[in-house]
Amino acid sequence: SSHSVILGIETSCDDTGCAVINTAGSILGESLYSQTIVHTRYGGVNPVVAHELHRNNIDSAVTDALRNAGKDIKDIDAIAVATRPGLLLSLQVGVKYARYLCKMHKKPLIPIHHMEAHALVARMYHKLQFPYIVLLISGGHCLLALVKDVNNFELLGKSLDNAPGEIFDKVARRMKLRNIPEYSKICGGRAIELAAQKCVNLNQFEFPLPLTKHRDCNFSFSGLKDSLIRKLEEREKKHNVMGDELIPEVHDLCAAFQLAVAEHIAHRTHRAMLYCEKYKLTDPDNRVIVVSGGVACNNFIFKSIEHVGSEMGYQTYRPPHNVCTDNGVMIAWNGVEKLRKQIDIRTDFSLKEVQPE
Ligand code: KG4
Ligand code: ZN
Repeated sequence: SSHSVILGIETSCDDTGCAVINTAGSILGESLYSQTIVHTRYGGVNPVVAHELHRNNIDSAVTDALRNAGKDIKDIDAIAVATRPGLLLSLQVGVKYARYLCKMHKKPLIPIHHMEAHALVARMYHKLQFPYIVLLISGGHCLLALVKDVNNFELLGKSLDNAPGEIFDKVARRMKLRNIPEYSKICGGRAIELAAQKCVNLNQFEFPLPLTKHRDCNFSFSGLKDSLIRKLEEREKKHNVMGDELIPEVHDLCAAFQLAVAEHIAHRTHRAMLYCEKYKLTDPDNRVIVVSGGVACNNFIFKSIEHVGSEMGYQTYRPPHNVCTDNGVMIAWNGVEKLRKQIDIRTDFSLKEVQPE
């Protein structure tokens, strides 16, 4: 066909992700080498381990994606790679590999901003017009932004402390959810979502909503975490819980915590919508919000956003779960968007462009 074929490479954090897609937005082949299970054992992403695993996996990840697509590197028209933000050493693995491929096979190189890729990939699945609001919630990010164009973003708010996924992972660990066999092999956020479904009494735990007096669109999650730990310690003492044991009310605590996180995120998103209305930043005929990042996989949180959105006349969209979390498809898609507009098409770029922020 006449469609160009793009290879996307993502190594910004702890997943080595590659994808081969065409300019029509069809995924031809993809691969993902996830390090989540490894880092869970350390209680967070270890940058040295992440670097090592990316180096071990990058070659196979690219080869797998090409093979799954039934393509040779010679069939690729351009290579898109995440250059920022992220862990410096991790980013460098993908960038060095992409530069090597581009030099070797004389292919154009397209630098991609990881957050912009998260924000744009919904356009691969839905006909979305600019401008629209994006909410990015994951283990590494938490922000609200206005997407005005492929390369034009306005930050509306961000977390003043931790990202929600990071908080979910920490509190899941503290509640020892891993000791429940069905939750032992999944991330903390997903474990909390599943545990919350077994709640019998939601009202025994109350969390104060953060930043209610701030009229901006920023977030804060560390207070919710501290509050959870206090409640947990209280119950552990009360029940004389020891070693690997969990508190009996763990499902209720998970549900109350998830509700508080959802309410906070929905509250800040509501503020972003009000702000955009006030300054006429969004088109009244095109009220759209996109939710992405690993925490967007949480159906309870997603529904809370959808609810606030519908009250404000917004349509809420999210990419498929495996495209909400870090992946190569979103990088390749951003490459397609830039190729269409002839933005950032390079023959090479300096490693100085590889930046943590
Ligand atoms: O986007 P992602 O793969 O990587 C980054 O952190 O950038 O997101 C992973 C995060 C983890 O913190 C994980 O706990 C969270 O997303 N997560 C969830 C769910 N699935 C993944 N949080 C809440 N509910 C879920 N269902
Ligand atoms: Zn990400």
